[in-house]
Amino acid sequence: MWAVLAAAGSGERLGADRPKAFIRLGEQPLLAESLARLDASGWIDAIVVAAPPDWEEPAILLAEELGCGKVSACVTGGATRADSVRLGLAEVPPDAAVVVVHDAARPVLDDAVIERVVTALGNGWDGAVPGLPVPDTVKRVEGDRIVETLPRDELRVVQTPQAFVADVLRAALTGSDWTDCAAAVEAAGGRVRVVEGDPRLLKVTDAGDLDRVAALL
Ligand code: C5P
Repeated sequence: MWAVLAAAGSGERLGADRPKAFIRLGEQPLLAESLARLDASGWIDAIVVAAPPDWEEPAILLAEELGCGKVSACVTGGATRADSVRLGLAEVPPDAAVVVVHDAARPVLDDAVIERVVTALGNGWDGAVPGLPVPDTVKRVEGDRIVETLPRDELRVVQTPQAFVADVLRAALTGSDWTDCAAAVEAAGGRVRVVEGDPRLLKVTDAGDLDRVAALL
């Protein structure tokens, strides 16, 4: 059971002097929270971190400081999230059964969510992702013209951690444009299941999100 932690984003929207994973959340860089939680999880045996270019060394030092003994490799991430995950996957050994992919930008990672996605695999499911119902009505638009109102009951907002049969993810994750790994597996014809998400798995995108996440820790 391997985890790939995608932490190589630039975080431009935060407007900081460093990549998002190294922005302060309390006393530690943002990356610390998800890394420590993955390391503490009984569901995870080993971790690969995808770090921003020139930040591999600080990522390794952080893992050592936190005593994260499951970190097996730290790779330099790529230009897109999909590239970073693929580069991380290259460090996962061929005999790995399951890969859990998580965004460092979602620090409030509860072990119960990891359990839900991992235990949802099997019985023909290639992947499992946490999802939440959509409270708002969602429209598809062209420019500022609404062209469709989507049936809300059929929509879910999906999060990470996402769990996959390792070989299926490896085969599906070609191309750079996937915004999540599930999309690549779906497009390759894989069966991906949605399990109950967690509203605390907020993704840090702007400075206000940092305050919201800090309040949840
Ligand atoms: O940019 P965004 O917030 O959508 O990124 C989601 C996750 O993917 C973040 O944890 C970010 O560090 C990671 N990412 C990455 N490599 C990239 C872009 C994003 O690992 N090139």
